[in-house]
Amino acid sequence: MTDDKPDIYGGQRPQMEHALEQLLAKVEDLRQRMTDELGLDPIEHILARVKSDESMREKLRRRGLPQTTEAALTQMHDAIGVRIVCGFLSDVYALRDHLASDPALEVVEEKDYIRNAKPNGYRSYHMILCTQEGFFVEVQLRTISMDTWAALEHHLQYK
Ligand code: GTP
Ligand code: MG
Repeated sequence: MTDDKPDIYGGQRPQMEHALEQLLAKVEDLRQRMTDELGLDPIEHILARVKSDESMREKLRRRGLPQTTEAALTQMHDAIGVRIVCGFLSDVYALRDHLASDPALEVVEEKDYIRNAKPNGYRSYHMILCTQEGFFVEVQLRTISMDTWAALEHHLQYK
């Protein structure tokens, strides 16, 4: 942290890390089952993070929301984020289907920017899930080429 403000996630941070670990364990389990079935690992790589204190505060400010743990965990849905990058498009949708049918996860929202690319060309499948403990998780599923495009576009945006 860059200043003496308390952590935006308050005492919730350990539970958030735990929720993230649990979701990652679930994804690794799916990955293993799919690898056994297909004879091929469906996942190229996974990125996971709890959004930093600084960028969460910045986002709340931008949205005109109060700098509270409550707002960070209920008004924002991407405090916890997982990006899953696949070799094949079929694996993106197979993983989506597995996550959506998991009884322990509630699908709050889905955006298919693959079938409906954003005007700038961004493509990715976004899911907002809610865990049994009540934490929102933003899951981004995409192929390697979509991920490369997004990384380049993100880089150019900040130049
Ligand atoms: P955010 O306020 O950015 O979270 O947007 P949103 O709440 O409307 O959600 P959306 O599903 O559109 O985007 C969520 C996340 O997807 C972003 O935080 C980025 O990580 C990624 N994303 C969305 N659009 C773009 C884009 O045009 N380019 C890149 N590189 N990433 C994007
Ligand atoms: Mg977001």
